[in-house]
Amino acid sequence: MRYLSGIQPSGKLHLGNYFAMMKPMLEAQERANVFAFIADYHAMTTVQDPALLRESCREVALDFLACGLDPTRSVFYRQSDVPEVHELSWFLSVLAPMGLLERCHSFKDKTSRGIAASHGLFAYPVLMAADILMMQSDVVPVGRDQKQHLEVARDLAIKFNNAFGESFKVPEPAIREEVAVVPGLDGQKMSKSYNNTIEIFGAPKETRKKFMRIVTDSKTVEEPKDPETSVIFQLYALFAESGERAEMANRFRAGGYGYGDAKKALHEKFESVFGPMREKREALARDPAYLDDVLADGARRARAVADETLAMARQAVGLH
Ligand code: ADP
Ligand code: TRP
Repeated sequence: MRYLSGIQPSGKLHLGNYFAMMKPMLEAQERANVFAFIADYHAMTTVQDPALLRESCREVALDFLACGLDPTRSVFYRQSDVPEVHELSWFLSVLAPMGLLERCHSFKDKTSRGIAASHGLFAYPVLMAADILMMQSDVVPVGRDQKQHLEVARDLAIKFNNAFGESFKVPEPAIREEVAVVPGLDGQKMSKSYNNTIEIFGAPKETRKKFMRIVTDSKTVEEPKDPETSVIFQLYALFAESGERAEMANRFRAGGYGYGDAKKALHEKFESVFGPMREKREALARDPAYLDDVLADGARRARAVADETLAMARQAVGLH
């Protein structure tokens, strides 16, 4: 089985990204072939500052490695090291009905938030489909907001296969229900664009303060509380073992347990998981040559697969 997913270098890694995409990819390394990539072409739809793009790419690469991506076992690469993806994107573009792309929410969402309504932003789901089909991916772990894009990728794989003969695997999304939408500090979906994120590798002091800012209702310490509607509990549940989860839920319901205490417990859990990764990340950041080697090796391995897929697809469509 081949797992593939990517993340745009357009902001700092947050808990939503980690639980929906990063963690499933890391777990898949134990049993599958993993392709993880940095979607820098995609990020160009919003980042048009060359120094920032370059820097963010390296930051995301450090994030992946610090969280446990093993670049010897998995193929870890920058999208822009596989420029062949644009040729495949064209093959898919000519099959992609305008109506299908017009129905994609993400274009409307992004333009309504002030992002330029460029052709690139509109065509983005086709490039994403090319990322996926290029590596003949079976499974694509993502958060729920990417579900529609996965449907586009599946549609285009089927359209290509119908038009030119069996060529591409039809990928399956892997969306974990319990983490499909991770809430942010304000209770809305955690997202860079809502300014409500908890960053995985933010400065420790700022991060602690963020936990203290999580919204709550105004119940006093003594009052019983409902764990299910509490963002604190929802976030705690992402980290905790089932026993710990039940224990916190009981404390909420019993009363005498304040939101401040719950926030502290959540922050401690966060630190116990991400503290060691933060240290690993700091060590990795001191060795830029290692990162260069990892990305060069990933580029070579990803390109070998892309070359093969593209030769097959060119043959199928009748080029040469
Ligand atoms: P953002 O919304 O912060 O811009 P991205 O669009 O870069 O995040 O998302 C990268 C990956 O993380 C995608 O697979 C996306 O579905 C997932 N993701 C982002 N935010 C959340 C969230 N709050 N809950 C679940 N998954 C999320
Ligand atoms: N569109 C994804 C996001 O914004 C990133 C991405 C690009 C991706 N290509 C992909 C994810 C292929 C999974 C598979 O988060």
